[in-house]
Amino acid sequence: MKALRWHGEGDIRLDNVDDPTILDPQDAIVRITRSAICGTDLHFIRGTMSGMKEGTILGHEGVGVVTEVGAAVRRFAPGDRVIVSSTMSCGVCWQCRAGHTAQCDTANPNGPQAGSCVFGGPQPTGPIDGLQAEYARIPWASNTLTAIPDNVSDEQAILLSDIFPTGWFGAELAGIRRGDTVAVYGAGVVGQFAIASAFRQGASRVFAIDSVETRLVLALDQNADVINFNREDPVQALMDATLGIGVDAVIDAVGVDAQRPSSGPAAAESEQLAERFAQEVAEVAPRTNVQGDNWVPGNAPSQVARWSVGTVRKYGRIGIIGVYSPEAMSYPIGQAMNRNLTIRLGNCDHRSVTPPLLDLVASGVFDPTRFITQHEPITDVVDAYLTFDRREEGWLKTVLTVEG
Ligand SMILES: NC(=O)c1ccc[n+]([C@@H]2O[C@H](COP(=O)([O-])OP(=O)(O)OC[C@H]3O[C@@H](n4cnc5c(N)ncnc54)[C@H](O)[C@@H]3O)[C@@H](O)[C@H]2O)c1
Ligand SMILES: [Zn+2]
Ligand SMILES: [Zn+2]
Repeated sequence: MKALRWHGEGDIRLDNVDDPTILDPQDAIVRITRSAICGTDLHFIRGTMSGMKEGTILGHEGVGVVTEVGAAVRRFAPGDRVIVSSTMSCGVCWQCRAGHTAQCDTANPNGPQAGSCVFGGPQPTGPIDGLQAEYARIPWASNTLTAIPDNVSDEQAILLSDIFPTGWFGAELAGIRRGDTVAVYGAGVVGQFAIASAFRQGASRVFAIDSVETRLVLALDQNADVINFNREDPVQALMDATLGIGVDAVIDAVGVDAQRPSSGPAAAESEQLAERFAQEVAEVAPRTNVQGDNWVPGNAPSQVARWSVGTVRKYGRIGIIGVYSPEAMSYPIGQAMNRNLTIRLGNCDHRSVTPPLLDLVASGVFDPTRFITQHEPITDVVDAYLTFDRREEGWLKTVLTVEG
């Protein structure tokens, strides 16, 4: 079958590989019909999330049809349409029963303390071959898969594999309450779903901060107030807009590849931190492979952390869903301490967050497909990665069509 594999920083290839087989009674095999490219995948290729094993099939977002099940899989049968959750979970350990499916004690082959087990990720997350392929082996299939109702299309379902639940989870981490004023850093697709989720969870005003105009326009379409950090200083703008109080809650939907402003009133202050940021980049990305405009690591890993702490009100709440690698050590903890902030963060508990969101989609209340900007056949996946990585205008979310 065809599968996109990681061969090194800046080196991904669509290879012909053997079809996956059942290795454990808890496994299922799924013929993938839709996959998608995620900002998380970019970290692995830019080198800002290290520890990838050569040959790992990339991708953690997938929808498809079950073709085979292991002897212990009782909930699914060949022919079932399913969403594959990005994180694997057993469903029966105490973490899973508490709804903490991203911290399942059983799924990660590196042991119960190893943290999230993710498709197509680095060694400490498995490694488990991913979903940008024609077929995939799904460990712990009974809990990792979710059945798709007939009235939900594959196009809708693919956004329930990771992105919608993650945006929702980000708003939950930020503890959104009725009437809140919220700042969402990052207007990528995760930021867009965080904006939608914050409104649905009761926020009355949401500010979206980014520098990519087409992404800010999409945020504006959702009735967010938008701030381009290359034109305005987000800290000043948010303070001015909130009577100097700050926002109630912040959602960081950027992560380790954060950039600092290249122009505008915030550029000078960030420029003074350039050396410190460069040191952070060296820590999180010991190996990179920049090729022209591609695979360039973000130049300011702690920029959003600094702005988040600087723009939330005293006793405010910060939810971090943007991914930071274990090597990321910089956070303005003293400032957060002095202002009595609450900071919550982590990988989305996909499997426990998804079901009510699937109901929202099935009932026609919320159509997530409005955020899909590109449909590409899997045969064009490398080109699609290159364009998405350059944050080209108009490229927000690419769904890959797979012909099994
Ligand atoms: N926690 C989870 O379970 C989970 C799941 C999925 C994705 N993620 C993470 O969410 C993040 C966003 O994913 P995505 O697919 O939207 O990625 P993306 O790369 O499309 O979007 C990131 C956005 O951040 C913007 N940005 C860069 N520097 C900024 C700054 N200083 N201030 C404000 N915005 C800035 C970029 O312009 C871009 O639009 C990634 O870090 C990804 O790994 C986390
Ligand atoms: Zn993803
Ligand atoms: Zn578990």
